[in-house]
Amino acid sequence: MSETIPPPPSATTGAHMDAEGYAAAYARSLDDPDGFWREEARRLDWVTPPATIANWSFDPVDIRWFEDGVLNLCHNCVDRHLPARADQTAILWEGDEPGVVRRISYAELHVAVVAMALKLKTLGVVKGDRVTLYLPMIPEAAIAMLACARIGVVHSVVFGGFSPEALHGRIEDCGSRVVITADGGMRGGRLVPLKANVDAALERGCGVTSVIVVRHLGNDVPMAEGRDHWADEMAVSGDCPCEPMGAEDPLFILYTSGSTGKPKGVLHTTGGYGVWTASTFHHVFDYREGEIFWCTADVGWVTGHSYVVYGPLANGATSLMFEGVPNHPNVERFWEMVERHEVNIFYTAPTAIRALMREGDDPVTKHDRSSLRLLGSVGEPINPEAWKWYWRTVGDERCAVIDTWWQTETGGVMITTLPGAHGMKPGSAGRPFFGVEPLLVDGDGKLLEGATSGNLCIARSWPGQMRTVYGDHERFVQTYFSTYKGLYFTGDGCRRDEDDYYWITGRVDDVLNVSGHRMGTAEVESALVAHPLVAEAAVVGYPHDIKGTGIYAYVTLNAGEENSEALETELRQQVRKEIGPIASPDIIHVTPALPKTRSGKIMRRILRKIAENDFGSLGDTSTLADPSLVDSLIEGRRNR
Ligand code: WTA
Repeated sequence: MSETIPPPPSATTGAHMDAEGYAAAYARSLDDPDGFWREEARRLDWVTPPATIANWSFDPVDIRWFEDGVLNLCHNCVDRHLPARADQTAILWEGDEPGVVRRISYAELHVAVVAMALKLKTLGVVKGDRVTLYLPMIPEAAIAMLACARIGVVHSVVFGGFSPEALHGRIEDCGSRVVITADGGMRGGRLVPLKANVDAALERGCGVTSVIVVRHLGNDVPMAEGRDHWADEMAVSGDCPCEPMGAEDPLFILYTSGSTGKPKGVLHTTGGYGVWTASTFHHVFDYREGEIFWCTADVGWVTGHSYVVYGPLANGATSLMFEGVPNHPNVERFWEMVERHEVNIFYTAPTAIRALMREGDDPVTKHDRSSLRLLGSVGEPINPEAWKWYWRTVGDERCAVIDTWWQTETGGVMITTLPGAHGMKPGSAGRPFFGVEPLLVDGDGKLLEGATSGNLCIARSWPGQMRTVYGDHERFVQTYFSTYKGLYFTGDGCRRDEDDYYWITGRVDDVLNVSGHRMGTAEVESALVAHPLVAEAAVVGYPHDIKGTGIYAYVTLNAGEENSEALETELRQQVRKEIGPIASPDIIHVTPALPKTRSGKIMRRILRKIAENDFGSLGDTSTLADPSLVDSLIEGRRNR
């Protein structure tokens, strides 16, 4: 039996739902999905409420929710709050430097969003167009997203840590003609040259005709005549009504890595994503009126989309947005900010928790954390040790801890305990959210019952499900619905215990989860082989204390080339250039050859085991073209 910690009084007192409430609502969500989601949809204002609720099929793949409903998500996140909470802070922003704070009320947010929407319109952007956002964690990122939603423009946010090359690929793929960026961003005291990166990306050629540049740092950046516009110099006036959108009209594209090929544009639509983020924010965080909610994710990732912007603002919450990093100027930063802003709900990633845990309890306990009510984790499996530190040291065993499992593809939380309803098991994400029917299957797709381990699939559609891969529906079908016919395959392995709690064990495909950032091994490999001296590369993950998974790159060089420290630096540089610093390999292992079968297939299983320092269970190596290679690989690993 695994240890279960009952929810603390701070979670159960005043909770929207207890254990019986969850059981009843969950059962209803599966028995009467139309009735259940028709009611949940009332969390949003509709121009025309939907008559049809669910209409989907996984074979053939066609997913629609609320399809005849009409609404606008910007209206739901901004305008509709004006009568009751015009003066309430919508976005509470703290910059990279401690104490540099902006408070943007719902009324001010409205003015700013209207202005940005009008600026987009003056550039000729119309409903259905795609606009790429490449911004630091500043309020203007949320403002730009909402401005797009307001006029029916599909936003594609690209994380500011991606390189010009990666940005270029994402701009081209969705055919944006307008990019919104800033003169620069600050992270941990270092300047991120966003505008320069945009310039470099556009030099590679693409259809971008206009760039809106937000003045943030006030530094000098070159402006291309006719193309680049300072946001604050674009004169606009008047109103900009919210465009009535069909529920299935696209809201945004967000690129994410898969096991093969280039990143895919995950497409989310207006009604389903809107309902899912509004509903999950309310239930999962058991959000109470007036609370300060802090999700530390960057808006460049789905967590930032759903729980910095859409979920909190649809619920009329105050969303804290942070430009910086947890260890600048020192490792007290998170807790100092929790104290300064009296944060009630704190939502971060295991990699940050593990890094801060290393620094001991002092940096935490010297700050007043009595405002905290709930602690959340997302992005990768949280090891029980880190979970317990979060629970004990950060939350004083007073705040419920929720471990929320979900994906870019799912739009919002799918598996989690509900704070007031469920006991917590350190290391387990917990129970399915309403409408989510998880299944475990074996490699052949055979359904596994009871307490067991297998591949995690979802049996039926939920409103927040992605609808397609932008421009490539066949890839959507192939990636998620072809492995197990009729099921959505998550790519994750999972254990279900005797209490029906789910324990995510990590990816079972060639996707790495490095500090909670998704990376395809194929992407890193193609970045490495782009170096002129590299013949072949094979990238695998290995356990890393802080990052969860580290990137281990095996590389072979062209005939006659020698390894050197300088070359390793160059290779890392190459990956930073093609993708960005987050994909830089932790270990580069130059080897004379890669282990291959006689038919020439790289035996990744062996490479993984060696990277994991697990030399005892390499399995059958006799099918290798050159079995003696294994010893030299092991020796190479030992030397690193
Ligand atoms: C992993 C982030 C264990 C998982 C929201 C998933 C998790 C991938 C958890 C999606 C969790 C996310 N426990 N693993 N609580 N949350 N993952 O698309 O492997 O960036 O498939 O979405 O992260 O990453 P993505």
